[in-house]
Amino acid sequence: MDEKDKLRSKQWFGRTGKDGFLYRSWMKKQGIPARDLTDKPVIGICNTWSELTPCNSHFRELAEFVKRGIIEAGGLPVEFPVMSLGETLIKPTAMLYRNLASMDVEESIRANPLDGVVLLCGCDKTTPSLVMGACSVDIPTIVVSGGPMLTGRYRGRSISTSDIWRFSDEYRTGTMDDMEMTIAEAGMCRSDGHCAVMGTASTMACMVESLGISLPQNAAIPAPDAARKIIAQMSGIEIVKMVKEDRKLSQVLTREAFENAIRVNAAVGGSTNFVIHLLAIAGRIGVELDISDFDKYSEGIPLLTNLQPSGKYFMEDLYYAGGLPAVIRELLPHLHQDCVSVNGKTMRENYEDALCYNREIVSPLDTPFNELSGIVVLKGNICENGAILKPSAATPGLLQHTGRAVVFEDIDDYKHKIDDPDLEVDETSILVLKNVGLKGYPGMPEVGNMGIPAKLLAKGVTDMIRISDGRMSGTGFGTVVLHVSPEAAVGGTLGVIENGDTITLDVPNRVLHLHLSDEEIAARKEQRKTLPPNFTEVPRGYVHMFQKHVQQPHLGADLDFLVGGSGSEVTRDSH
Ligand code: FES
Repeated sequence: MDEKDKLRSKQWFGRTGKDGFLYRSWMKKQGIPARDLTDKPVIGICNTWSELTPCNSHFRELAEFVKRGIIEAGGLPVEFPVMSLGETLIKPTAMLYRNLASMDVEESIRANPLDGVVLLCGCDKTTPSLVMGACSVDIPTIVVSGGPMLTGRYRGRSISTSDIWRFSDEYRTGTMDDMEMTIAEAGMCRSDGHCAVMGTASTMACMVESLGISLPQNAAIPAPDAARKIIAQMSGIEIVKMVKEDRKLSQVLTREAFENAIRVNAAVGGSTNFVIHLLAIAGRIGVELDISDFDKYSEGIPLLTNLQPSGKYFMEDLYYAGGLPAVIRELLPHLHQDCVSVNGKTMRENYEDALCYNREIVSPLDTPFNELSGIVVLKGNICENGAILKPSAATPGLLQHTGRAVVFEDIDDYKHKIDDPDLEVDETSILVLKNVGLKGYPGMPEVGNMGIPAKLLAKGVTDMIRISDGRMSGTGFGTVVLHVSPEAAVGGTLGVIENGDTITLDVPNRVLHLHLSDEEIAARKEQRKTLPPNFTEVPRGYVHMFQKHVQQPHLGADLDFLVGGSGSEVTRDSH
């Protein structure tokens, strides 16, 4: 059989009679010659461009460079939009819609005459939602990230998203006024691209490169750099090759590739959101991954990059220092070097010659920037199914600490009380925020790094232990325990913690413990049979479905019926 006869798109454009007429005729109205439809691989460009997703606002131009590459390699590019999730604007939280966007992506790819697909990803949730959707179809797929913004500037200082948390504390204590906030706001986002620190978007870009589903150097090239356009074009060329060689996502996304991604994430100090998204992606492609694997495979991997929020510098600096290849080159002894990437080369072939141009940004393995790295998984009677903490962003002195709980029943209770001068709290207290989980909020917003009480800020306290069933922005920092599972709203122990209870956080021993007997915890749960205050069971629409079907964070927070894939076959025709 001729290569082109094996193409999936032939099931549409290779038909005779009425069906072929319909499929081809309407495509021809776009000026596409018949031979392009019948003789070339059809490559989808899955675009999350949206003016409501400012991090992805340059994607129409970026898509043009992908198209150049596809055409150059002999393919037919067809661009299509999918739901785009802008982290800064979407209420109540973009995480609520990650799974919805993934459904859009999955069905859009499967339902259309595509032989391969290029995923244009940028702002936090746009990467996992697109990769999850594509995994459930499993045709040749490559990711092109939009790239980070240039570093922001404020009164001669370099700034980016992590500084928002500092500005917010200064504003609350009166050391920064409205005028200064406006000046900082104007200098923060000064170019195309996503957040310029190792926040969730950059973490996701590193994740796809370390999994092998983007070309090397994809992670850190700044959005406005000409090299971003070039890698988009090269990815267009590559996807056509992938289709010809029939290299599907499942051939790249092996168990070993996931282990590599966990190790690279530890070395770059990636966002805690990495855990929830990688678990969901593994679930879609059929790789067994457990939350404990994040601890297991991070072990022995130090932090190699000096990037905010765990360090000082920005993604732009990482690119000038050699990009993610410089980090992976250092880590090769710890990686599965034979994993094959989308370009058909192994990790070793892709990265063994990578250079580092600045050891201040990417440290060698034997003299790392910080011995603390990765994501630790805590267990205990507060979190039977796990909770996570990012040690490199925490205060070392708080990693083993026992203190009294100061409890907020939900986010409204927190906002109401946190700056009350009469709040009984000191720097040894542990702040506990309930009902910001997947079902309880719903959607699990990034409020886990809740601000500390203004009266303690005024005393110079900069960090406290905070525990919640919510998430934290990848740009955030502090000694913050997140993703407590099971969450309070489904009966987790978190929900019965009361003011004054004693809690121990012991990171070296991976323990989060409430000093109450099992009987006392059971008795409190018995008393609390009612749903938490302000809990709303949404009666209709997508959010109703989400609350009914979302899995807990230790399973990746996917909807239970979306786990796995349905392949690329379409079994019925409508004509
Ligand atoms: Fe889009 Fe940070 S807001 S990446």
